[in-house]
Amino acid sequence: MGVVNEIPRIQLNDGRSIPQLGLGVYKVADAAAGELVQSAIEAGYRHIDTATLYRNERGVGAGMRASGVPREELFVTTKVWNDDQGRDRTLRAFDESIGLLGLDYIDLYLIHWPAPTQDRYVETWHALEELKASGRVRSIGVSNFEPHHLERLAAESETVPVVNQVELHPWLSQRAVREYGAEHGIVTEAWSPLARGRVLDDAVLAALAERYERTPAQVVLRWHLQLGNVVIPKSSSIERVRENADVFGFELDDDAMQRIAGLESGDRTGLHPDQHG
Ligand SMILES: NC(=O)c1ccc[n+]([C@@H]2O[C@H](COP(=O)([O-])OP(=O)(O)OC[C@H]3O[C@@H](n4cnc5c(N)ncnc54)[C@H](OP(=O)(O)O)[C@@H]3O)[C@@H](O)[C@H]2O)c1
Repeated sequence: MGVVNEIPRIQLNDGRSIPQLGLGVYKVADAAAGELVQSAIEAGYRHIDTATLYRNERGVGAGMRASGVPREELFVTTKVWNDDQGRDRTLRAFDESIGLLGLDYIDLYLIHWPAPTQDRYVETWHALEELKASGRVRSIGVSNFEPHHLERLAAESETVPVVNQVELHPWLSQRAVREYGAEHGIVTEAWSPLARGRVLDDAVLAALAERYERTPAQVVLRWHLQLGNVVIPKSSSIERVRENADVFGFELDDDAMQRIAGLESGDRTGLHPDQHG
């Protein structure tokens, strides 16, 4: 299927851009990641989201190379884990990640969680600024940051994160985080965009899927795209990987957008950032 030219890119505040839809690979085994990533790239994906925590960076890098698509057309994100926060540990963790991926540079490096009880995310952010200055990372951002964590970075550093990757799906639309991002030039990226698949049984989504002759997952992903989110659905099945990228040939009307907004319950699949680490 030809989605290659259909995945739009979103402008970042550092002059670069990010494909609006990518493949998340949390819980994909390293041994399976290569083939999955290669197949996804062949299906038109250009953006892969991994992390040190996922222990599959080696497979992700192998899949990128096996695809034969030029490196500069691909976009890969990885993240520094909570245990590696602090300047020296972060620089070492980055060396390990880039080594496992087998790349000369990483497109986007994120602080995985603010881990506020450690109180090292500002120091960690300064390490990311060093990495960006070295050219080994093109863009730097954060994940799971609440507006108050972002305020602290703004007060104590010169660099605005390009993205904030947060849990976001129809149960948790993250209005305050999205509004803060829009005001400050920080793109909102949605993790668990399908609420780990749990939202897909909802009757409202089933009705919309029927109306648009699409699957519930495609309806949810379309809602994200129309909100302006970057979205990184995970699937370990290449059929569903393809299905999840086939979301550029239809548009939800206002009524459908409102119905999905009506599913807001505040339910999370993960921890609140102030309670993690
Ligand atoms: N920054 C963070 O703290 C953080 C936290 C969590 C996740 N993430 C990132 O976000 C990515 C996505 O989040 P996620 O993996 O938690 O959840 P998700 O993408 O919301 O959902 C994945 C689940 O939905 C199923 N699924 C996917 N497509 C489907 C479809 N078309 N129809 C039916 N079921 C479908 C998958 O099953 P199958 O695999 O069997 O298809 C899997 O169980 C992760 O992989 C990771 O890259 C980041």
